[in-house]
Amino acid sequence: MKRLAFGLLAAVLLAVSCNDGRMVVVNGDQVVVTLKAQKKYLIFPIHDGAPQTQLTFKCGEEDIFGHQIEMYLATDSAQLYVPVDISEYRGKKLDIYIDKAHAEWFGVTALRQSNDFDFEYDEQYRQKYHMTPYHGWTNDPNGLVYHDGVYHLSYQANPYGNLWGYMHWGHTTSKDLVHWKEQEVILRPDSLGCIFSGCTVVDKENTTGFGENTLVAVYSIDGNGQRIGIAHSTDGGYTYTPYGGNPVIEEHRRDFRDPYVLQIDGKWVMAVTIGECLRFYESDNLAEWNFTGEFGRGVGSHDGWWECPAMFPVPALNEADTVQKYVLLTSIYPHGPNEGGAVQYFIGTWQNGTFVEDPLDYPLWLDYGRDNYAGVVYSNTGSRAIYIGWMSDWAYTNHTPSVEFRNGMTIPRDLEVRAEGESFIVASVPSPEIYTDKSFEETRDEFVVEGSECFDILKNNDGAYFIHFTLSALGEYGFRLKNNEGEMIEYKFSVVDGEEAKVVMDRSRSSKVVFDEDFSSRLVVCPLVAGESYEVELFVDRQSTELFIDNGSRVMTNQIFPKKFYDTIEFFTDSAMTVGDFSAAKMGK
Ligand code: FRU
Repeated sequence: MKRLAFGLLAAVLLAVSCNDGRMVVVNGDQVVVTLKAQKKYLIFPIHDGAPQTQLTFKCGEEDIFGHQIEMYLATDSAQLYVPVDISEYRGKKLDIYIDKAHAEWFGVTALRQSNDFDFEYDEQYRQKYHMTPYHGWTNDPNGLVYHDGVYHLSYQANPYGNLWGYMHWGHTTSKDLVHWKEQEVILRPDSLGCIFSGCTVVDKENTTGFGENTLVAVYSIDGNGQRIGIAHSTDGGYTYTPYGGNPVIEEHRRDFRDPYVLQIDGKWVMAVTIGECLRFYESDNLAEWNFTGEFGRGVGSHDGWWECPAMFPVPALNEADTVQKYVLLTSIYPHGPNEGGAVQYFIGTWQNGTFVEDPLDYPLWLDYGRDNYAGVVYSNTGSRAIYIGWMSDWAYTNHTPSVEFRNGMTIPRDLEVRAEGESFIVASVPSPEIYTDKSFEETRDEFVVEGSECFDILKNNDGAYFIHFTLSALGEYGFRLKNNEGEMIEYKFSVVDGEEAKVVMDRSRSSKVVFDEDFSSRLVVCPLVAGESYEVELFVDRQSTELFIDNGSRVMTNQIFPKKFYDTIEFFTDSAMTVGDFSAAKMGK
């Protein structure tokens, strides 16, 4: 009783009215905003550097989201604005309890209602032909599924800010894998926990009982350890209902996440990471799962956590192959081939409830760049294995200089197994759809470079383009992209007798915006098979470069944050080099 009386005394009434009848009451370090819901959204001003606040939204006794929402509510000025949908409560009184806040913060005083959320979030680093979230944070691609002519791309999302945390599944869709449309969030944190990564499958035969062709999302629940949950959608993947019997798998482990599901011989098979290994489970109905085996001990790289597996069947590798082969992907952080995160792969067979790797020279890496992580392949695409990865790295991702959103995905790549010498590799071939976005092509006849040669490309480009050429040379040679601010990136090939052939990407001078030493100081090295010529394809977007060598036999994905778009190319060599088949095209119609 005494405590209550003290609490009431401490409460200070700050403001009495606004056009929505707003009242702001301060109670210790809690601010309570009471208002009448009149419009679709509450718009909150956010700033990355602000202290983290917890918000509870109540309508009478009802906690309208069932849990607290975390936000970095702006103190002095807004970096971005984020919406909270209150449309269901129109006409009712809402109490918003904001913990650890001050009533005079900009995030409180400038909080407003609106029927639209239509900010021009078209900043300098907004990608033109890659998926990026309209606002807020993303990491891994989730729930990649093709259904009814639509590619669904969900993503790890914090819709309330530009930093990782408080994870949802955001949602975008595309009909061509190039142009992405933002949709409503499909999975939100609930009383079981936050929603971490996972996949989506089409239940064509109604094994779940939810109905034929229902989409089923299988995801990690983070809260009270990590567990596996499912949710289903009967409207083609635009809204999902979490299963009442969640969690469907619980192993009482802290690191047990990122389920990937496929069908093998009429059974559902799930791969899940557990620390530095994978576990496999089988099910007839996606709800009841039995453990069948483990994979990973003693094979591949274990220099970090294993995360985000994916598995898909591949055509026979040679005539003697009679058993179905599979490729298994798993991401590893923090010690990929160039430090940071990377995706490793295995080629093998499915035997007695587990994956058995063929004897190849592991670890094998899908991409040698710093910025291709947590990638998985689409389900329900027939014989195509269409891969999309998260284009950033945990080491520096919280500091990259975009303002209204943070991060995005790679271009789609068709993965294929290819012979290389006596062995096999998984190549990443840019998905053919991506080339349909090209326009204003510039071409050049074959030319010979001695020393260096520099020319403009796509004058006044807006940061989104594609360049193709072949390089024939030996020794050290390569090319640079530059702007007139003195910013540049360099790719240096080195094919020297007695040394491992390689191409090295240097982004130390890529930008005058210095945000993280680990980003700018390291060279990114990609080993090559020694040869006398290479085919090069380079996809550049406003904050990314994706280099494909010899139709995707080697790949390097690296972010860039130049102050101005590069519009000059310089070829250089220590002897003579022939550049053939040169073309440059704008992207992002
Ligand atoms: C990989 C990852 C996953 C996890 C998710 C959380 O980047 O760490 O293992 O499910 O991100 O956002």
